[in-house]
Amino acid sequence: MAIKLNLFVAFLMIYIYYITEVYSRLEVTNIQCKSLDKDFALIENCFLKSVNRSYKYISIKVNLLQKPVTNVKVHFGLYQRLNGYKPFLYNITLDACKFLKSPKSNPVALYFYNYFKNFSNMQHPCPYDHDIIVDKMSYDSINNMATKVLPFPEGNYMFETDWISYGIRRAVVKLYSSLTTY
Ligand SMILES: *[C@@H]1O[C@H](CO)[C@@H](O)[C@H](O)[C@H]1NC(C)=O
Ligand SMILES: *[C@@H]1O[C@H](CO)[C@@H](O)[C@H](O)[C@H]1NC(C)=O
Ligand SMILES: *[C@@H]1O[C@H](CO)[C@@H](O)[C@H](O)[C@H]1NC(C)=O
Repeated sequence: MAIKLNLFVAFLMIYIYYITEVYSRLEVTNIQCKSLDKDFALIENCFLKSVNRSYKYISIKVNLLQKPVTNVKVHFGLYQRLNGYKPFLYNITLDACKFLKSPKSNPVALYFYNYFKNFSNMQHPCPYDHDIIVDKMSYDSINNMATKVLPFPEGNYMFETDWISYGIRRAVVKLYSSLTTY
């Protein structure tokens, strides 16, 4: 029984490797940012740019209107497009202020944050008393990273992040993408 299980796990790992490392491609197709509370946050810009086949990036700038901000939670949800977008596997809320105080306490979030922080001015713990900027975050590498850790089937996906401050949703960022395997 134990041997069978080991074989199964080995097989599964090879399978996941095969699918995710070699044969899948995540294409980001659209980004939408929306302020849900215009007294709290304004979206100054939010766009995708495709420079060439290998260099594509995301830039976002958000003006915070009630500084300093000392409480930030981010809700991450992944949706798959079937008949409309349906929740798919990942649904996590991260207390950003707590996380930034001790990033090592959450290795999964840290993995993504290590990438994100290179392009953002959110590299320090709360409070935030400045605009939030994500500058030219290249998404070809996100692509590689996401498909390596998150094996999932071909299809259209929407990755939503809700930005919550003092218990109220203030802004939402939606990233649309398609995953093809071949
Ligand atoms: C794509 O554009 C970037 C930035 O301008 C450049 O460094 C890179 O060499 C380009 N890649 C290709 C394949 O043209
Ligand atoms: C995430 O979980 C919350 C509460 O558990 C639920 O209300 C929400 O609909 C879920 N969203 C997704 C995308 O699964
Ligand atoms: C982020 O920047 C650091 C230092 O410049 C670099 O060592 C690291 O490889 C970068 N991380 C990613 C994921 O690009």
